[in-house]
Amino acid sequence: MSREKTKAVLNQSVADLSKAAALVHQVHWYLRGPGFMKLHPKMDELMAGLNGYLDDLSERLITIGGSPVSTLKEFDELSKIEMTPATWGKSTEERLTEVVKAYKYLSELFQDGIDATDEEHDAVTNDIFTSAKGAIEKTVWMLESELGLAPGL
Ligand SMILES: [Fe+2]
Repeated sequence: MSREKTKAVLNQSVADLSKAAALVHQVHWYLRGPGFMKLHPKMDELMAGLNGYLDDLSERLITIGGSPVSTLKEFDELSKIEMTPATWGKSTEERLTEVVKAYKYLSELFQDGIDATDEEHDAVTNDIFTSAKGAIEKTVWMLESELGLAPGL
């Protein structure tokens, strides 16, 4: 089976996870104010999680005969995550809200991956998307809690 839908969501995920990691790195660098000592290393932890799923999904794509996007230009053009040059004027709440927005988008994207892999009978890729979605949703809960909000998933 060619698994074209699965391959498309995998490549979308490669681009979006790469850009999400860049966004989290930006927050890691530009945080300033109360909570810095706790949130600065937390962003490192989030990046490690994103990069782990990035590598797993890229290598799964190659395993099933696909070709992951790999240049910064391709990541930026394909990704639907929004990112702008940093300024010092944003509050920590604004920065965390940007991260939550990206994570909620990833949660929906990974659902598309679960649906595509169900349809194309690829249980192995389904398993990666399912565990990635679980981790992303748990992070949404934690970030929303930090912001004093319910998860809203
Ligand atoms: Fe650092």
